[in-house]
Amino acid sequence: MISLELLQKYNVAIPRYTSYPTVPFWDEDIDRQRWSTTFQQRFNESNEQKGISLYIHLPFCETLCSFCGCNKKITKNHAVEEEYLQALLAEWDLYRLQMNHKPVIRELHIGGGTPTFFSPGNLKILLEHILRDAFVPDVHEFSFEGHPNNTTFAHLKTLYELGFNRVSFGMQDSDSEVQRVINRFQPQAHVIQVVDWAREIGYESVNLDLVYGLPLQDVSKMTQTIQDALAVRPDRIAFYSYAHVPWTSRAQRLYDEQDLPNVQGKMALYQLGKKMFAEAGYQDIGMDHFALSSDLMVQAAHQGTLHRNFMGYTVQETGLLLGLGVSSISDAGKAFAQNKKTIREYYEQVARGELPVFRGYFLTEEDLQMRQYILDVACRGTVTFEPGQYAELTESTVGELNDLAADGLLTWNAKSLQVTASGKHFIRNICKAFDLKLLNSVIEKKTFSQAV
Ligand SMILES: C[S@@+](CC[C@H](N)C(=O)[O-])C[C@H]1O[C@@H](n2cnc3c(N)ncnc32)[C@H](O)[C@@H]1O
Ligand code: SF4
Repeated sequence: MISLELLQKYNVAIPRYTSYPTVPFWDEDIDRQRWSTTFQQRFNESNEQKGISLYIHLPFCETLCSFCGCNKKITKNHAVEEEYLQALLAEWDLYRLQMNHKPVIRELHIGGGTPTFFSPGNLKILLEHILRDAFVPDVHEFSFEGHPNNTTFAHLKTLYELGFNRVSFGMQDSDSEVQRVINRFQPQAHVIQVVDWAREIGYESVNLDLVYGLPLQDVSKMTQTIQDALAVRPDRIAFYSYAHVPWTSRAQRLYDEQDLPNVQGKMALYQLGKKMFAEAGYQDIGMDHFALSSDLMVQAAHQGTLHRNFMGYTVQETGLLLGLGVSSISDAGKAFAQNKKTIREYYEQVARGELPVFRGYFLTEEDLQMRQYILDVACRGTVTFEPGQYAELTESTVGELNDLAADGLLTWNAKSLQVTASGKHFIRNICKAFDLKLLNSVIEKKTFSQAV
């Protein structure tokens, strides 16, 4: 059991490390020409050998869940689908012009918002346009996020026929009181129905998202939610720590902060989940992810081939991630770029025939090294220092690592670092030891959620 003292000590605001450097350290005004050149170079290096990854952001949702921290736009007007689709296709065409070979799309993820807000017919138009001039290898990972309340059999079937083999459904919490306070009415029958359909159609892996740390949650309600989730035996479970960021997600101000579990209560919910998942045969992948041994993600974790990017953990490391749609982020290895964050600005920039990026970052050699250490901690729980690397660690990193080691969260020496079992609960804190940007700066405005 982790002591309250440790929980309090490490419950500080820390990034989730889906990138390094993290977004607050990027330049607000990206050099678009330089981004374009970097993208082309990376495409040429990666495409033939490893293929590329695509992320497509579909931002619309019909109703607002007040806890939600995603970039979304609430509307019931489905006429918006058409205009958004046209902008996405135009953006893809702009990037396609930068690719001098047929892209090999090894990984594709559609996230949101709610991708299943779009009709199956519109999703088909979008994907056929992108895939008609691309190569999809036999071994590929195509996935999407479905809302159990509006995912239809036709959505699942259409996407399956386009090559999708993984699906993730938001379940969040099955308790009616919690659902009321987060404004998410999620009948369990819908969850069961969409998972059944996905299995019937042939999806290889079904994921459920649960969130712990929501208002009014306690051990008894969480036990029921987890039992409900386990009853459909998902291949993967994302057991997300609720990120309370009311300064950016204003709807989180709608409920009373007194109703949020305190740090000890939240950790108890996490421990409960971890125990119940383990008893049900799920393995802990790291940073809130659990999977059955039969799932590729567990095999990748054992083989040390797990990777982490803006989509979270992935089993395919392709070398280039292209993000399409409002607010999407692209990762070209040595550079990141993010698209405009409002739909209006996104449309305007695409209509001008410009890549709709607005901010980004070009990594230095030092950044690349720190990024590798952070990925090693997050994906493998271990770092091996090559000769000479230990001597190059900064005083602040050495200080942080010694402190973490004194608290029993890791062991380390000049050759390697190993995260301990207790350290697994504090992966974000351990990553921070290599985050020179954060260690060397004082971030003034509120930016990150708490680590626990
Ligand atoms: C885009 S949504 C999933 C698809 C669909 N919109 C739905 O809600 O079913 C992505 C996931 O992010 C997680 N999420 C959203 N806001 C969060 C927050 N503030 N803290 C932690 N996880 C959050 C939820 O588990 C949610 O299922
Ligand atoms: S949790 Fe899903 S459905 Fe709810 S607002 Fe967020 S993205 Fe939309």
